[in-house]
Amino acid sequence: MTAEYKVHDGVAVITLNNPPVNGLGYATRKAIVSGIEQANADDTVSAIVITGAGKAFSGGADITEFGKDIAFREPNLHGVIEIVENSPKPVVAAMHSVVMGGGLELALACHYRVVAAGTKVALPEVKLGLLPGAGGTQRLPRVIGVEAALNMIVSGETVDAQLLASLPGQKLFDEVVDDPASLADEALAFARSVARVTDLPRVRDLPAKHPQGEAFFQFARNTAGAVAKNLPAPIKCVDAVEAATTLPFAQGLARERELFIQLMGTPESRALRHFFFAERAASKIDDVPPDTPQREIRKVGIIGAGTMGGGIAMNFLNAGFPVVILETKQEALERGVGVIRKNYEDRIKKGKLKQEKYEQTIALLSTTLDYQDLQDVDLVIEAVFEDIGVKEQVFRKLDEVVKPGAILASNTSTLDLNRIASFTQRPQDVVGMHFFSPANVMKLLEVVRGAQTAKDVLATVMALAKKIRKVAVVAGVTDGFIGNRMIEQYARQAGFLLDEGATPQQVDKAIENFGFAMGPFRMGDLAGNDIGWAIRKRRAVEQPDLRYSRTADLLCEKGRFGQKTGAGWYDYAPGKRDPIVSQEVLDMIEQHRKDAGITPRRISDEEIVQRLVFSLVNEGARIVEEGFAQRASDIDVVYIYGYGFPFWRGGPMHYANEVGLFSVIEAMKRFARNPLDDAAFWQPASLLRQLAAEGKQFQ
Ligand code: NAI
Repeated sequence: MTAEYKVHDGVAVITLNNPPVNGLGYATRKAIVSGIEQANADDTVSAIVITGAGKAFSGGADITEFGKDIAFREPNLHGVIEIVENSPKPVVAAMHSVVMGGGLELALACHYRVVAAGTKVALPEVKLGLLPGAGGTQRLPRVIGVEAALNMIVSGETVDAQLLASLPGQKLFDEVVDDPASLADEALAFARSVARVTDLPRVRDLPAKHPQGEAFFQFARNTAGAVAKNLPAPIKCVDAVEAATTLPFAQGLARERELFIQLMGTPESRALRHFFFAERAASKIDDVPPDTPQREIRKVGIIGAGTMGGGIAMNFLNAGFPVVILETKQEALERGVGVIRKNYEDRIKKGKLKQEKYEQTIALLSTTLDYQDLQDVDLVIEAVFEDIGVKEQVFRKLDEVVKPGAILASNTSTLDLNRIASFTQRPQDVVGMHFFSPANVMKLLEVVRGAQTAKDVLATVMALAKKIRKVAVVAGVTDGFIGNRMIEQYARQAGFLLDEGATPQQVDKAIENFGFAMGPFRMGDLAGNDIGWAIRKRRAVEQPDLRYSRTADLLCEKGRFGQKTGAGWYDYAPGKRDPIVSQEVLDMIEQHRKDAGITPRRISDEEIVQRLVFSLVNEGARIVEEGFAQRASDIDVVYIYGYGFPFWRGGPMHYANEVGLFSVIEAMKRFARNPLDDAAFWQPASLLRQLAAEGKQFQ
């Protein structure tokens, strides 16, 4: 059973029991209905309590039913809610821990609600591009007021029950129980106290009004539209709540339903739902079962206090781990720690961090020049110069001093992890932890699995990623891992576009309009164009025939490395980050075209977007088919959390599904015919071709 039914001295108690969060799946819905029917048919029962077992009252929809017909199988949530609300005997919701989405909508259909202090309440549907579709938009405004309800529904944010209980005139809670342990008893007592009420209060009978009516909703729509730019759901949430104030209840419900169905069919909601599952899937490693034993990590060592080392250290300090940083020189340590302190101090100034918390956190940090101080660490992350010789020195030394069983991680972005592992006698303990810059901000972590990396090391690092609030994706040892291997193709396309007639600003604008946080040229200026230059020099030796645009090299030859040199693809005013169109760069590109004998053509924004995005798709498909990523959805996670791909498009692979893989291949065939592009690159990856031929999609 996914809900239990018991009678306690005249009160029937229906306890939802569908771990982990009592999702309202088909079996649970059926059990609620049968509980209500049984209670109403039993003359010895005079009131009913609905509560949840374990960690939640109810977290809402059962995510295992998402996108499947069973989610709507009768009794659907609407049906359950109607039966609860129409029960002739009083129904009391006894809420604790988590009350979300459909869980709150169910509670709103009960005649009374008792809540334990500390309960978290939310209608988070908007985060999946939807709106609460089982009466939430109609009932919540009636019990906490239109404005408070609108805020909760449009933001999807979690609110503390006590805060809601303090709203003037609120009718959401009839009683707040201070001690959650006594909720069950208090709810039974409450149920007995209302057992004889015949004229039961129902939320649907309450008024929903806002004094400014139309003007208020127009303002809310404007605000929601401005914040949510490309997302239709927040505005439809406003429409639905407005309907609660202008239409009779039943018609309001019908309107909510209609808006819900419209949102279900939007690409944005499909993308957000895809991403919800993609993120969960990314944490799973196919051959590393969830019960794999983990190594205990109590203390962390970091080698190198540069850009990455400092940011990486902050992640662990924030999560309460003692951290020791090792450098070669005292000045380097002081500089590194200075940057860490400044980062925290900026947070204090912005009111995001309390002084006391800062002092506790920074007290966890120690520094050293001596490898002996790493003897007791359980994990070391190396973030020294990107040079195989330096990495070799460091890993040989670590192998000598660090205790057996400690995990040895490298933050390398381009070097061969298997080679790094071979510098030690314990390659099974070596793993890549590829953070993204700034490491204390970016959520993505590529966990690089070496040929010999042990399963318990992987399990430990994946779990640790959650503790330091990163989203980890497993990558194999391939040049650039997942993200940078793909971005190289994207950058090559951006270069070809310049050769053929586009300007840096046209390319940036087109892809930013598509939704990227930053176009390739602004991104190059931010990250430093010299990084790509160094990689191209290496490539020129490894793959001398590889075609690429010379424009980026010409730029670097002028010393225009980006923001750090005050000039890159754009000019920058001193101390400013706003890109200014550079005539020097435009002239440079034009001269380059002349030298190469290219007659520039007008390139449409559509072509720019397709070439940039489909280059990611094709390389992503190759990475999956070669086994360097476990699944296509992992690539979406990498691109959204690491590279500013628009989250509401679900990532490059999901976007390709939306376009249709057949159409994606057709576009690639067109690009392959362009003599200035790289025809070999545009041969569709075999995975892509195969899926398209079978009418399937990336998973
Ligand atoms: P950085 O140059 O800012 O810092 C490197 C630090 O390592 C310097 O403070 C240096 O004094 C120290 N160091 C050098 N040799 C050492 C040794 N033998 N022992 C101890 N410390 C030593 O470099 P950054 O940018 O922090 O990069 C570090 C690593 O992270 C590289 O492998 C890089 O590829 C990787 N990475 C860099 C990213 C970035 O955006 N900067 C992103 C992801 C990875």
